[in-house]
Formats: sequence, structure tokens, C-alpha cells
Amino acid sequence: MTERLSADAQGIARAAELLRQGWLVALPTETVYGLAADATSGEAVAGIYGAKERPSFNPLIAHLPDLAAARRQGLFDANALALAKAFWPGPLTLVVPVSSGCEVSELARAGLASVALRVPSHPIAHAVLQAAGRPIAAPSANRSGRVSATSAAHVLEDLDGRIEAVLDGGPTEVGVESTIVACLDGAPRLLRPGGVSRSAIEGVIGRPLVLAGEAGMAPISPGLLASHYAPSAGVRLEAQAPRSGEAWLGFGPEPDGLATTGHALNLSPRGDLTEAAANLFGHLRALDALGPAMIAIAPIPMHGLGEAINDRLRRAAAPR
Ligand code: TXA
Ligand code: MG
Repeated sequence: MTERLSADAQGIARAAELLRQGWLVALPTETVYGLAADATSGEAVAGIYGAKERPSFNPLIAHLPDLAAARRQGLFDANALALAKAFWPGPLTLVVPVSSGCEVSELARAGLASVALRVPSHPIAHAVLQAAGRPIAAPSANRSGRVSATSAAHVLEDLDGRIEAVLDGGPTEVGVESTIVACLDGAPRLLRPGGVSRSAIEGVIGRPLVLAGEAGMAPISPGLLASHYAPSAGVRLEAQAPRSGEAWLGFGPEPDGLATTGHALNLSPRGDLTEAAANLFGHLRALDALGPAMIAIAPIPMHGLGEAINDRLRRAAAPR
């Protein structure tokens, strides 16, 4: 039975204590809920892979309370430092070479010589990280390949009985995962679009970001697996309107009469990409729960958070 903890001093202390003892605890962050474990313990990290049924070659993000703590785990070049100062705490993950004193376990790093580090801005996540006093590994708190969890209820849908506790901090604010940038060789690469837009990052590093894979690179981030974030229903993208039997996920003002044709939700009737990102995974889960064969999804513009939304939708629609 999974303990439900409330987001008060007592719940935060309990979550940190469970983490220090090696248990799995789902925590709110500003992006999505994380399935947290002590990153320094291979045994605790193994529990994450088990609970998620995740292929164990996927490396995990280590979460820290601040930049100083992050710099004990990884080596920051000038770009990494500038990005950390601009966007931490917040929805950015930096992949950097491991430091000589790196405590993040081999298993959490999937044996790589690099480590993914993130300082989340969510006050409850921050308080737990502070109290835990060590790097905390946390992939999104969903079963592998499924839609990420943006509320405690979504976490329990996938993981009830498989984890020790969930700390309920209400719905998450950003709604899509952190942007991942690798700073390994002087040329920062975008490994995953996310909560910080490409243009904001390019503004800080002063040059265009290469999307890993675009430049003929093998995807070094396994979160770039083609089929990911998949609902049970099929997904049809760039749809102008639902066909008979399809559920509909709109964006912006709906064409006349559309809302009456079966199950329909809208990511943001006013066409706001920030609102759409926050609603994305919850709306996909809600439509999927109605059991349609197919979810038709309106076109989403590519600017700002649109790049991250379109990235997740392409994966949801990929052949499985
Ligand atoms: O917003 C987020 O980032 C959420 C919250 C909970 O913090 N976490 C999250 O974690 O999305 P996860 O495990 O679902 O995604 C981590 C991604 C994976 O795509 C993984 O392949 C990549 O980070 N990654 C981790 N370490 C890496 C490394 N050393 N090199 C390249 N990619 C790495
Ligand atoms: Mg995930």
C-alpha cells in the first residue's frame, strides 16, 4: 500500500527519511511528478527500474537543491555554468562529464561517464532535496512508455502498491519534462526539448543549438526512443477535425459544431502554449480513459513550448 503524504513539513520530512532509507517516493516537481530514489544507492535506483518496468539502459536525472551541490557531481564548462545560472532552479537538465567525486551510482548513470543534473524550482521538491542531503534520481513517475504523471492521482494510476509513498503537491505547473542540454565538448546539444524553450537557451549560449540526431548523431538520450509517452489509443496528428469514432484533442478556438461530435477536450481554447503544455498529459490520459480507438489532435504551433509539445505528440503517435 502506497502512503499518501501531504505537502506540509511533516510530509516533507517523512519523504526525505524514506528516501534516505532507500525507498521509492513520488514527488511533485514543476514539470511532472518524479519517481524518486537515493541516486547514490544502486539498490534504490534498481527499484525505480523495477517499479517503472523501464529498460535498464536508460540513465536517470540526478536532482539537487542548488548549483553548488550540482557542481560536486559534475564538471561545468562555461556554457553549462551560464545555462545553470540563467535557468536554475527550473525546468532545465544539464548533461555534463562526471566529477571525480561524483556520488551518483553507476546504475543511475547507466555506466556513462556523464551525468544528468537538474535543480528543480518546485518548493516542495526543493525542501525534500535539501532534507535528503544527497542526489536524488527521479524519472517521470509513470510506467515506462506511458504518459507522464502531472498529479498525484496520475502517479497512483500507474504505481499504486509499487512505491512506498507519494507526496501530493497538487497538479504540476509546466506539464512537460525539463529541456535536456548536453555540455560535453564545447558544442551544447539539445537532447530533449522541454520546459525551457530552445530560443531562451540559444539566447544564453549565443548560438544555435543542435538537436542530437539532427546532425547525424546516434541519439545519446534514450528518452529519444521513437515510441514513448504512448496512450493506449492510437494517435493522429495535425488533424483538422475528428473522424467518426475518434476522440478529439483541440488547440485554440474550435471550428463550429466540433465539440458535439463525441469526446473532446481542448489543450488551450485561447491558443496559449504554456497552458497547453500544462494540460497535455492530463488531457491525453483523460481521453484515453474513455477507450477510443484513436485520438485526433489539432496542429500545435512550433514556437516556445510548442517544440516540446510536438516532440511528445510525435512519440505518442509513433508505431509501437
Ligand atoms: O522534468 C523532468 O526532467 C522529469 C522530472 C521528474 O525531473 N524527469 C524526467 O526524467 O523526465 P526521465 O528519466 O523520464 O528522463 C531523463 C532523460 C532520459 O531521456 C535519459 O535518457 C536522459 O535524461 N539522460 C539521463 N542521463 C543522461 C546522460 N548521461 N546522457 C544522455 N542522456 C541522459
Ligand atoms: Mg519519462
